[in-house]
Amino acid sequence: MSEIVEQIQKLKKQRNAVILGHNYQLPEVQDIADFVGDSLGLSLKAHETSASVIVFCGVRFMAETAAIISPDKTVLLPDAQAGCPLAEMISVAELRELKAAHPGVPVVCYINTNADVKAECDLCCTSANALEIVESLESEEVIFVPDKYLGSYVQEKTKKHLILGKGFCPTHQVFTVEEIAALKAEYPGALFMIHPETNPDLRAVADYVGGTGGMRVFARNNPGPFIVGTEVGMLHRLEQENPGKLFVPASERAVCPNMKKITLEKVLWALEDMQPVITVEEPTASLARRSIERMLAINTQ
Ligand code: 13P
Repeated sequence: MSEIVEQIQKLKKQRNAVILGHNYQLPEVQDIADFVGDSLGLSLKAHETSASVIVFCGVRFMAETAAIISPDKTVLLPDAQAGCPLAEMISVAELRELKAAHPGVPVVCYINTNADVKAECDLCCTSANALEIVESLESEEVIFVPDKYLGSYVQEKTKKHLILGKGFCPTHQVFTVEEIAALKAEYPGALFMIHPETNPDLRAVADYVGGTGGMRVFARNNPGPFIVGTEVGMLHRLEQENPGKLFVPASERAVCPNMKKITLEKVLWALEDMQPVITVEEPTASLARRSIERMLAINTQ
């Protein structure tokens, strides 16, 4: 074990901390996490942990979600600048405008939103449960923000009419149908999996469409090889869990610069200094908690 990993493990015990890491984290960060998962799995872990401190190796909206659902815990985000451009693509003012234009229509917000936006929504969702969450509503119309691509994916699968936001994840826009065709020719029989945050042309040529949690199940249940259409950190997770299977990135350009801001050094410093702490002010926290807890209730039934 390297010296820094030893220091992190020691401090983690002293602080009664748990380290949660998203599937897109750097390999060495994934390797020191107590739990690595998708947005839904991480929210559930943050909800049920008995630790006093959560070190969240991910981006800000994930740490905010943990702070909202576990208000009695200290949530640390090792780099306070690790944001999410998609989450910035809808503001409270824009959402209020959308709600005013569609009075009485319920709002589902992707978990990739800031806390003040979650506070304005009826229900939260992740890529793992977006369709299920939309279908859980009685209304025939649903406002879905901010991801237009995830929204269009759900729209393909539901009879409800979705009013979509205009946001998108830049990291998931780098794939091209031409490059996928070239990879398929290079790796005959390869299965192409892709995240629903991508455009419909790409999803149309995929063998599997799903969030990072779904991809892990798909990889477990199939022989591969696999072409992985999401952020490249996912390859480490998949390789760890499936020794001997081949995983090829759909694009080396699919790198989320924010996820990559979290390093082992920053995890250590966060535990040493108990900084940066992520908090969400009231009444935003209580209002946002309702939309997150409604989602978790559906997924833990
Ligand atoms: P999931 O891990 O929930 O699929 O989401 C990944 C993501 O796009 C985070 O922005």
